[in-house]
This record gives sequence, C-alpha cells and structure tokens, in this order.
Amino acid sequence: MPQRSNLIDKVLLSRNGNALLNAVTVLPTLIKINKDCFVREAALSLSVTTEEMSVRVGAIVDARAELEGPLLPILHDVQKEFGFVPQPALQIIASRLNLSRAEVHGVASFYHDFREEHPGRHVLKICRAEACQSMGADRVANHAKRTLNVDWHETTADDAITLEPVYCLGLCACAPAALMDDKLVGRVDEDRLDTLIGEARS
Ligand code: FES
Repeated sequence: MPQRSNLIDKVLLSRNGNALLNAVTVLPTLIKINKDCFVREAALSLSVTTEEMSVRVGAIVDARAELEGPLLPILHDVQKEFGFVPQPALQIIASRLNLSRAEVHGVASFYHDFREEHPGRHVLKICRAEACQSMGADRVANHAKRTLNVDWHETTADDAITLEPVYCLGLCACAPAALMDDKLVGRVDEDRLDTLIGEARS
C-alpha cells in the first residue's frame, strides 16, 4: 500500500497540474486509508470528474425539474449529495434549467444555507435572529468563535466542526438556540456550547 505522504505528494503535484493522472489512480486508496481533512478534500475535489459530476447533478435536476421553482430544491439536493454546492454544479444546473450560471450562482450565494466548501464532520449553527440576539446569542457566538478558533463559515483545524450562522431555528421561546448537526438546543450558554463541542469532538 502506498505511504500516505507519497499519496499526498501526488495529490499536491496534481493540484499544480503536473500529475493529475497519478492522483486519479491513487485516489481509491486515498479514500480507504485516511479520513482526515486534507485527504477527504483532495479526494472529493479530484475524484469527482466533470463527467461524474454531470451525471450526479443531472439526475438531481431531472428528479426536480418538473417542480414549480425547482432551483432551490435542486440546490438543497446537490448540497445533500456533496456536502456543499461545488462550483461546476452551478453550470450544470444552469444549462439544464435554461438559466445563466450567474442566475444560479446568485441564488446559491444569496442563501446562507448553501456552502461553497466541504464542511467539517459536524456543523454547528448558532441562531443570529432577533429573539436569540436579545437573549445573548452574540455572547454565545463569540464564545464559539474563540473556542473553535474560527469565524463564521470556517472549519476547525482538526476538521471536526464548521461554524455557521442561522436565522431562526423555530425555537425562539427557548432563545438563544443552536443546532449541532440535527440536534436542536435551546437556552444555550457557554457551558452548554462547550458540552456540545466536546461531544462532537469525542
Ligand atoms: S430567533 Fe433564534 S430560534 Fe428564532
């Protein structure tokens, strides 16, 4: 089995445009031997060929195309499929829906829900809407940023947690609210946040 460092070297080379074929041939091994951030990112960005992307995104568009206003459901499904909305997907969606790439990009970038990069293993969302703000959400958010050493939309160095803002989680009566993956937490304070972060990292 190739050593991890050699594999990463090959991927780095490929990013410089010198050894794409080498990287492609070792990617299945890469995915098997290591789940850490860099390898996962490299595998994701390099293993999904334009053709494969076209097929996967095309299938999503086909399944939603008949809806009235299909763009948002399509973007949500693409994000579910890849963990984010890859840039090449925008053109594929645009072509299939007879829109311009700028129109699709405009929608994808308007909504905070859509990510441009692959998230960490967990996504922590902290509500920034009015009811939560009035109950100390800013203090909680600042604590999260300091503890994780990230800003909004960034992922921790260990690839464990991506921090995202959200605008109402429907839990206004128990503000401030946060969401760790699918776990909704009300009346979150610094201690509860630390517990959530600790559980996610364990
Ligand atoms: S305003 Fe934060 S949950 Fe509604």
